[in-house]
Amino acid sequence: MNSLCDLVLRHAAEPRSVIPAIEWAANEVTDNVELHASAATPGVFFARIDAQRQRLELAVVDQGIGIRQSLASSITTGSDGEAIAKALQRGVTRDPKVGQGNGLAGTREIVVENRGDLHVWSGNAMFRILAGQDKGYVEVPGALGTGVVLNFRLDRPIDLRNTFIAGTALDFIGKQAEAAETAGLMVRDEVVSARARAPAASLRRKIMALLPDLDSPLIIDFAGINGAASSFLDELLGRLAAELGESTFRRRVEIRNMNPLVARTANVVIAQRLHGLPEGSEYQRRGANRPDRPCPTALPSFSLAPRRECAGPDQREPSRTRPVRRKPAQLMRAEIPLHVRQPAHQCQPPPARHRRHLPAIALRCR
Ligand SMILES: Nc1ncnc2c1ncn2[C@@H]1O[C@H](COP(=O)(O)OP(=O)(O)OP(=O)(O)O)[C@@H](O)[C@H]1O
Ligand SMILES: [Mg+2]
Repeated sequence: MNSLCDLVLRHAAEPRSVIPAIEWAANEVTDNVELHASAATPGVFFARIDAQRQRLELAVVDQGIGIRQSLASSITTGSDGEAIAKALQRGVTRDPKVGQGNGLAGTREIVVENRGDLHVWSGNAMFRILAGQDKGYVEVPGALGTGVVLNFRLDRPIDLRNTFIAGTALDFIGKQAEAAETAGLMVRDEVVSARARAPAASLRRKIMALLPDLDSPLIIDFAGINGAASSFLDELLGRLAAELGESTFRRRVEIRNMNPLVARTANVVIAQRLHGLPEGSEYQRRGANRPDRPCPTALPSFSLAPRRECAGPDQREPSRTRPVRRKPAQLMRAEIPLHVRQPAHQCQPPPARHRRHLPAIALRCR
């Protein structure tokens, strides 16, 4: 269940608005396999996400006795279709000592609220909800066991308060936030690679989803990341800074253990996201912004400004925005100190060759 929610957390545009309902429904449907299927073999759980179309597909299939036979102990149902239709009603359960008959009914309500799709098959019948519309059941070739397939629209918030469920005690996001609050997020554990945009984007979405639940700044720990692509850093930190805004970014995010080389690149991409390239900068004069001329230097360079207070771990709050009104030439040296904590040995002045050129954002050592 955690893997499923993590998948949604990293790929849904607004994970907080869909995860509680998805978690609830997936939990109920898988629980049913354990409680009612009486299968000799374990059920199968499958999840697939289409991030582009913002769709999530979930399938839970077992090879058990099927819904009709399971319900037979308490309810007489003529056909498989009737049995499925009954099971989808609230309060229908094979045994009130075991359940309340809420799982499938709640799942159905969630899918309707979400305008998604639901297929439930068992025996020789399949019940369907398509785009939130109840289509009833049809006969299909008989199959062993029970299958439930859910298609969620990740772009449509599902408010459980609009269903009889009212809320959920499951709290994946809350638990993730608690863990992040305690230990921070280790970048090396969160991404498969620091060389591409996709893993950075998924981590950024996770961060955005967790931040509202955090009281203290979120620690993003770069320990073990000895190199990172500009595109990765831009997608993770540059866009995060742009989405949060400069001051919120510095207040809510604390970068730790970023090595100076990575910090230098990070500073460049963050500054560029926040301020763009300054008009009339040396970089622009040299033609870097002209599509008809190749950039003379591969990437903007940056001057990491070391600070006296970088030695200790218990430092004061980072300074707030430092408004800098500058002439174009000065703009190239602008610094925006971030909420960064690094080991003292990493807070060395940058080599002289990096102290020129471009708009810069300084990762502040604390
Ligand atoms: N995978 C399954 N295999 C066999 N029967 C099932 C399966 N899933 C559901 N059923 C039948 O459908 C009934 C209704 O399921 P539902 O999840 O709505 O309620 P419940 O599991 O009985 O109670 P609750 O979900 O509130 O704990 C079950 O009691 C069971 O008889
Ligand atoms: Mg159930």
